[in-house]
Amino acid sequence: MEAIKIIETARYAPSKIVTNDDLSQIMDTSDEWITERTGIRQRHISEGENTSDLAIKVGQSLLAKSGYQLDQVDLIIVATMSPDAYTPATAAIVQGELGASHAVAFDISAACSGFMYAMMVAKQLLQMPTVNRAMVIGAEVLSKIIDWQDRTTAVLFGDGAGGVLLEKDASATSILLGQNWQTFGDQHDALSAGYTKVANQFPGPVTDLKPFYMDGHGVYRFATHQVPKSIITAANQASIDVDAIDHFILHQANARIIRSVAKRLHVSQEKFPININEYGNTSAASEPILLSECVDQGIVKRGDIIALSGFGGGLTVGTMIIKY
Ligand code: ACO
Repeated sequence: MEAIKIIETARYAPSKIVTNDDLSQIMDTSDEWITERTGIRQRHISEGENTSDLAIKVGQSLLAKSGYQLDQVDLIIVATMSPDAYTPATAAIVQGELGASHAVAFDISAACSGFMYAMMVAKQLLQMPTVNRAMVIGAEVLSKIIDWQDRTTAVLFGDGAGGVLLEKDASATSILLGQNWQTFGDQHDALSAGYTKVANQFPGPVTDLKPFYMDGHGVYRFATHQVPKSIITAANQASIDVDAIDHFILHQANARIIRSVAKRLHVSQEKFPININEYGNTSAASEPILLSECVDQGIVKRGDIIALSGFGGGLTVGTMIIKY
């Protein structure tokens, strides 16, 4: 097994900020309700930038920080549930706009677990002799698929992107200590966005995309039960105690879910950094945005042990225990 390490982290969010008070001007909600139930105070919302635009900013930043040339990137994976189009893949647009013509590029669709799934796929592909460096980017413009009349989902989400540059390095010890990923397809209808109905006549009507739908209580129960289990399974595989993990970088869906996971694992909440207050739920982008912030702020340091864990549509869960 080839050793892999994270060379750089980066993030980008659109400059427009929408506060809870702003939302209360357009729907029947309040700052108090949103803050108490979710921990969210504001979110970044795109004005004109699509998912690929956000991912390109992250790609450019990863390249600039690492000092690598475009032709040294062999693989680009974008995890997203809000791609620019059905086809081409958002990753192909990113590859083309960056000019990384050497890289193979494709998307992964696993909602809020997308970044973890993409990391696991990248890790496997980095075992190939022709793949030495990979960009793994989580990017979302969820604001374009939200029903802004539906207060039960509209207040929860935001736009943003984050990513890492992974490198195969024979001289290093591998960052990957343990992993767990699972799909619960029997609960596929608990969360959906962009569902397209097939017409039962020919010629059918123009495709009607359904906006975001979520069984909030169901997903809440799923997350608070499955995330601790997934972290324990990955820690067992890594042969480490959950106590030995320095930071828990969890998908930022709800501050209450994060606190509940900490409690169930009997771990101090101080080990669970939270930035949902600033970004809301950015789905596949949330873990790499948080990781990048923690690295830049010196909270996550080289040698620290981190549990990265995502959960969401599918339903899906994915955890990686890594040594940063
Ligand atoms: N403002 C004011 N009131 C509201 C709002 C709002 N934005 N939304 C709902 N309410 C009302 C409801 O109508 C309800 O009123 P009622 O009691 O008169 O019927 C009341 O507030 C309580 O609503 P609940 O749905 O019970 O609120 P809850 O405490 O469960 O919080 C939430 C809802 C935040 C969605 C929570 O269930 C949750 O976080 N679920 C998990 C979401 C998640 O983790 N998603 C991750 C995956 S996302 C992905 O994969 C893309």
